[in-house]
Amino acid sequence: MKIIGPFKQIVTLANLPLRGKLSDHQLEIIENGGVLLNEEKIEKVGFFQDLKNDFPNAKIEFVEGEQIALPAFTDSHTHICFGGNRANDFAMRNGGKTYLEIAESGGGIWSSVQHTRIATEEELLKTTLDRINFLISLGITTIEIKSGYGLDVENELKMLRVIKKARTFTKATLVPTCLAAHLKPRDFEGSSTEYLQFIVDEILPQVKEKNLANRVDIFIEKSAFLPDESKAFLLKAKNMGFEITVHADQFTSGSSRVAVEVGAKSADHLEATIDEDILFLAKSNTVATALPGASLGLGEKFTPARKILDAGGILAIASDWNPGSAPMGNLINQASILATFEKLSTAEVLAGITFRSAYALNLEDRGTLEKGKKADFVTFKTDNFQNVLYHQGSLKAESIYINGEKYTV
Ligand code: NIG
Ligand code: FE
Repeated sequence: MKIIGPFKQIVTLANLPLRGKLSDHQLEIIENGGVLLNEEKIEKVGFFQDLKNDFPNAKIEFVEGEQIALPAFTDSHTHICFGGNRANDFAMRNGGKTYLEIAESGGGIWSSVQHTRIATEEELLKTTLDRINFLISLGITTIEIKSGYGLDVENELKMLRVIKKARTFTKATLVPTCLAAHLKPRDFEGSSTEYLQFIVDEILPQVKEKNLANRVDIFIEKSAFLPDESKAFLLKAKNMGFEITVHADQFTSGSSRVAVEVGAKSADHLEATIDEDILFLAKSNTVATALPGASLGLGEKFTPARKILDAGGILAIASDWNPGSAPMGNLINQASILATFEKLSTAEVLAGITFRSAYALNLEDRGTLEKGKKADFVTFKTDNFQNVLYHQGSLKAESIYINGEKYTV
């Protein structure tokens, strides 16, 4: 057993509801706290002095100066395995072209597909690991990563193999998702419905057999896949045993309904969700994931996070880090800005990047600091946890613990 502390404050995020609004008064804040570890799990969180008295044989790992501790963060939506760069798209958007216009003229997702297809597994592995390490440095120890820049059998499997291989080089938990249904590739001869059937027949069986992912995603949008064909596809994927997540309502509404109807674990984006659909989503068990990095990257409005929480929904916040719509990758900065625009409490933001986003990945063993949970936590050199969001991402994490061990990237 080991005690880590003393911390000026430990914000446990324990005993909070999975859904709906939260006020900061509901937060459990332990002053002068310590974390007692039993190997990779938390045994107890309490006053440092009490832990020392009650567990005299435990080893003590002192922390330097004044620090606060929070559960480590979960980024439940990223596309960080990709080749190339889309700085030119960014400049074109700022020059007045829309995301969809750029996509139609051969930029956008298709340009990342071409760069990812020519990249070797070694090259992709290196850049993906660099991005993983950046996320860990922010205090994120659980990271979802999508394929979706391969869009044929060979390259979708290549991306998923790279994500699997990355696991052997990091202690962060990586959760792979197959996003072969990101877009119908330009070199596929057939309709979008036929491409979706091709994924079901040719890609998903191999993903399953090679144990490369157990989640399937789709981009439902006028420029990608339409609601009816998407629903049929998702039901087939579900039948094959995959968990479902959806890129929904990014530019036009209608697809968060599909996500709820097929029992998706999460519906992500939702910038264009209409009020009626917010209520429908908020009553379901589908997590509503806001992606403020995409709003910032595209200059679009934010996901209606306030309305989702007020309606009782499960709100997660993720970075969507990708080369096109969300090139920043700093979830803390983005979540803090979302809070300012959507009027979210600190508790709602912290819940959205910890136990609520972990729930979106079916990982209920983390995201709070309490007995039995995975000992992943992050510390900041400050005397008040409010400073983390107040500094909008510029207060850097001091230490990151994974399975109770201090982790250096
Ligand atoms: O979540 N909207 C679709 N997919 C990604 C963007 C991918 C890209 O632009 O490369 C998103 O925003
Ligand atoms: Fe995305």
